[in-house]
Amino acid sequence: MMFLRRVSLRRCITPATTPRSLPSLTARLSSTSPSLSNPSPQTHLQQPRITTRQLRVPRASRIPSFSGRHYSSIIEAPEFKMAPVTDPNTLSNYQDVVTQHTTVDVALDFDKSCVHGNATLKLKVVKDIDEVVLDTSYLDISKVLVNGSEAQWKLVDRMEPYGSALKISTKGQAGSSIDVTIHYSTTDKCTALQWMDPAQTSNKKYPYMFSQCQAIHARSLLPCQDTPGVKSTFDISIRSPYTVVASGLPRGAEEFAAGTLAYKFHQSIPIPSYLFAVASGDIAAASVGPRSMVYSGPEELLKCKQELEGDVEKFIEIAEKLIYPYPWTTYNVLILPPSFPYGGMENPNITFATPTIISGDKSNVDVIAHELAHSWSGNLVSNASWEHFWLNEGWTTYIERRIQAALHGPQYFDFSAIIGWKAFKESVELLGADHEFTKMVVDLKGQDPDEAFSSIPYEKGFNFLYYIDKLIGREKWDTFIPHYFKTFHQKSLSSYDFKDCLLNFFASDAATSEKLATINWDEKFYSPGLTTPTPEFDATLVDVCYALKDCWANMAAESFSPSPSDIEGWSSGQIVVFLEAITDLPSPLSKEQVEKMRTCYGFLDSENAEILSRFLTVGLKARDEVMYKKASEALGLWGRMKFVRPLFRLLNECDRELAVETFRRNETFYHPICREAVRRDLKL
Ligand code: BES
Ligand code: ZN
Repeated sequence: MMFLRRVSLRRCITPATTPRSLPSLTARLSSTSPSLSNPSPQTHLQQPRITTRQLRVPRASRIPSFSGRHYSSIIEAPEFKMAPVTDPNTLSNYQDVVTQHTTVDVALDFDKSCVHGNATLKLKVVKDIDEVVLDTSYLDISKVLVNGSEAQWKLVDRMEPYGSALKISTKGQAGSSIDVTIHYSTTDKCTALQWMDPAQTSNKKYPYMFSQCQAIHARSLLPCQDTPGVKSTFDISIRSPYTVVASGLPRGAEEFAAGTLAYKFHQSIPIPSYLFAVASGDIAAASVGPRSMVYSGPEELLKCKQELEGDVEKFIEIAEKLIYPYPWTTYNVLILPPSFPYGGMENPNITFATPTIISGDKSNVDVIAHELAHSWSGNLVSNASWEHFWLNEGWTTYIERRIQAALHGPQYFDFSAIIGWKAFKESVELLGADHEFTKMVVDLKGQDPDEAFSSIPYEKGFNFLYYIDKLIGREKWDTFIPHYFKTFHQKSLSSYDFKDCLLNFFASDAATSEKLATINWDEKFYSPGLTTPTPEFDATLVDVCYALKDCWANMAAESFSPSPSDIEGWSSGQIVVFLEAITDLPSPLSKEQVEKMRTCYGFLDSENAEILSRFLTVGLKARDEVMYKKASEALGLWGRMKFVRPLFRLLNECDRELAVETFRRNETFYHPICREAVRRDLKL
């Protein structure tokens, strides 16, 4: 078997919405959708969606002045007029008034599990207004000031899944600025935060809390215009008895009082609300590169340092060559407790990451390459609404794979792309090939963006960009990449802006324009199901995995006798490919074969959650009761939805009683987002 070093482990993000949960979604749409049942003041919710066809009207007639979304930039950004899209997932009147700067001044109360204090939004009025409407979700509002004086306000009844609009009466003339200060507290229904008792942390000494705001949870942590179409700079002050990290550059801790310090941060680059982040607890830090630190619990710190040291800077330098210099000054990583529901979250200056990437063999550092890539795609250049999420994740996946190729060779780009394609295909199968959420540009009116989450925007988006890369050739494509990121630097854009930018850039290059003219944009953006044509990738690195799978599938006929040497020198990524191929066999392995695989390859003892979760899947598919217990145990150790949700679904098929008992036992361990998702999956 060939020796392969550090092949990336890839995602297999299953769709958040399974076909079984669709009826409830539809029901919610017809009963509570703001556009269908509520004559809401948010008229933008009722606007018809823009199609690329409609966008072919002359530019001057379709670009209103929308100065609030343009920011001065440190990069020479070419002038580009943008067609605004409306975000159906915010209740705020962000088309009329735009947040430019946010000051957050809050304290963490670990006894009451709440955040309290105030947020001041400096708003620029774009159109004359007589109210400011902000997003909130389960917040207790006590007082609102406009330009320092108490103002009239009301919280509108909750509108699922968007929360309660906070309406603040104030007149404002286009061109003026308003400061709105909201005194508030979060509640126990806050979906953005997880609060943990000391017993739930690794050293069991102190409590811990962390946030996860993407996609629309920021509104449960602070009142804001909770749309990626609005970007604001931030000053953050968070008072806590424990170390605080947040999504900005630290300005130090001040004002010691009653065992607490106020930790200050500044974010000078405008960011959307979903990138606001905070964590506090017993957190230590170590250097992993010239501009990078890793933060974690003190006991885990050295292991985390070893895992990331050196690689982070290499990733940054490769991305800088592909795009342009990293503008955020520092790139740090916080390794969270195991209940963190995602692999990683690209919070500016401080990526939040699951501890499952610390496997001792650097095999999961591609998650960090991905989150770092978001520093450009997503964080500097953001999707204007969650309907254009592929712009964030498709671009990021593309850059991540270019980083892998630059580090390890082009075969690694293809290896990762093949695994991604499989995840994409599976998501399409699970949702159904006609499902709205299998489109690249999705309709999210009345929907929770979290429910549309799957591999599809990642992989359909990636494959679309890769298609253009192939179509016009790498050399030309690579001149467009920095241009795209300069054009939309510190801005939010839609898929139509992407199209215009690409076509304009090559307008004077007849040969490339001719090639680009062959793209059927409507089909690319709106056709559901798999991307066509099916891409071709170099399969060298996966073929060995499939060859071993064939040996297991035809064990009797081929008198195959497994030995540990079968996988000697394999990367964990290859083991994952092998195990997933076994899972996909038309008939599952026998219990005896599972036992043989276990003793021969030692998968059950793996410290790598990617491997262990796949092997448990193989065992459960074989209906091996010994493995049910192991799966139940593992479900008490991980909170990452990528592992937890598919395993719960499968355990539920095997032994519902055990699945429900396992969920009940670990309910408080899971993050609220994960808890709700599993509850839905298990129909509890
Ligand atoms: N931004 C996402 C995580 C996310 C997406 C959170 C949507 C909430 C809503 C992050 O960049 C991501 O894609 N994480 C992946 C890791 C990656 C290597 C694909 C994950 O969590 O698995
Ligand atoms: Zn991502």
